[in-house]
Amino acid sequence: MVHHLFKRKSLGLLHEEMKGDNRLRRVLGPWSLTSLGVGCIIGAGIFVITGYAAHFKAGPALLLSFVVAGMACIFSALCYAEFASMAPVAGSAYTYAYATLGELFAWIIGWDLILEYTVASASVAHGWSKYFQNFIGMFHIKVPLVFSGAPFDYNPAGGIFMYTGSWFDLPALVIVAVITVVLVIGIHESSRFNNVMVAIKVSVVVLVIVVGAFYVKAANWHPFAPFGWAGLSIFGHTIWGQTGADGSPVGMLAGAAMIFFAYIGFDSVSTHAEEARNPQRDVPIGIIVSLIICTVLYIAVTIVLTGMVPCDQIDTDAPIAAAFQRVGLRWGQFIISLGAVAGITSVMLVLMLSQPRVLLAMARDGLLPPSFFAAVHPRFRTPWKSTILTGIAVGSLASLIPLGILAELVNIGTLFAFVIVCTSVLVMRFINPQAHRPFRCPFVPVIPLLGVLFCLVLMFSLPSANWLRLFIWMAVGIIIYFLYGRHHSVLARRRAAEHLTHKDSDTRQD
Ligand code: ALA
Repeated sequence: MVHHLFKRKSLGLLHEEMKGDNRLRRVLGPWSLTSLGVGCIIGAGIFVITGYAAHFKAGPALLLSFVVAGMACIFSALCYAEFASMAPVAGSAYTYAYATLGELFAWIIGWDLILEYTVASASVAHGWSKYFQNFIGMFHIKVPLVFSGAPFDYNPAGGIFMYTGSWFDLPALVIVAVITVVLVIGIHESSRFNNVMVAIKVSVVVLVIVVGAFYVKAANWHPFAPFGWAGLSIFGHTIWGQTGADGSPVGMLAGAAMIFFAYIGFDSVSTHAEEARNPQRDVPIGIIVSLIICTVLYIAVTIVLTGMVPCDQIDTDAPIAAAFQRVGLRWGQFIISLGAVAGITSVMLVLMLSQPRVLLAMARDGLLPPSFFAAVHPRFRTPWKSTILTGIAVGSLASLIPLGILAELVNIGTLFAFVIVCTSVLVMRFINPQAHRPFRCPFVPVIPLLGVLFCLVLMFSLPSANWLRLFIWMAVGIIIYFLYGRHHSVLARRRAAEHLTHKDSDTRQD
């Protein structure tokens, strides 16, 4: 039995399965895939979290935080790209783990990806609601308090829950419902909608960089690293650098762990491998190009933002819009809020597009009920039932649970997935050196090892509560696996059937 838990799915089997019926529609080319990547990356991270991270964690050194987090992502992206070219199926890190580390690890990583996609979508829906309310506020329209946010809030410093006066977050619920409908209707429609949103947000980000550059004052970059260069802790004990007022680490590395959120999403390109026209070539292009574009834009925005406003005066809710208002560019608030709403919409769209595809891959392997999670709509060719379920989960979390609790879980879950993918590339090179690799990660084993190292450093730079929540989440996942997945695994059944056939023929020969 223990042996079965680590049973791997062979590459041959993965390729054979790709030929079956009930597959998704292959319509995405390199541009659409890159646009999906950018669509998923630029959002609440740069428009919201940058302000908090510069103000409380890193100061102007946040620019280097973006470089460090970007390097962790580039190393991981190269590993994702190698795998995506070898096994271009819908499951992303889940499938890669199944092919290298075995079924139990695959389940763990699939379960972990729910933290990345569903919980991140809910966090991002909060950001959307805030920017949307800010945007309509410019036209003197106000959402009534009872429909404006989650019913309770959490204060991490005191560990206290507080009633906010709201019932639920109506704008977040509505946007999740609209996106769910678009996603059920089709990948083509989703991709087109995404392209429009991406065009708007990238134009706004470029405008911020070009116009903002005229208002930069070099004096604002001194001191460059007011919180120091480090910020590393192990399970709540700061081992390198300073500790902030709420007990969590501060410094350049702690800033990197926080703004890592801004990079989440490039890996989602790999979940669309099954919808790519030429996945072996285009998925690696989509992953790497989208990440490079966003890294460059992020670094430029951070240089401009920290140069426009002294870091202790950077706004923490809408930092970029507030910076423009501060230097007298009031129109900036309108344009930037519009860009943020468009940007965050496409992040939600792509994250909510990715989740059902991972569930689909898990259901095809029998680890989730296939009648529900593997159902592909006969006309739209989308995994419609799990898309609707994802919409319900995201809508409920986004409208009822406060942002702080949700957002913290996302980074650690995603970093964990990256560690597994980097490790899997090494394992695959070892167990299957001859496999056809249309894209090869360069400098193996250096790049995957650096990927693991950078991601672990970022994981340890997060507040300790994240680790506790990750362990609880994983424990729940493992219980579900032993109650359901282990008994329904297609691979286990196939092996049992093969075993029986062998026994049968042995008996007959006797
Ligand atoms: N990277 C995504 C964002 O910043 C999750 O919104």
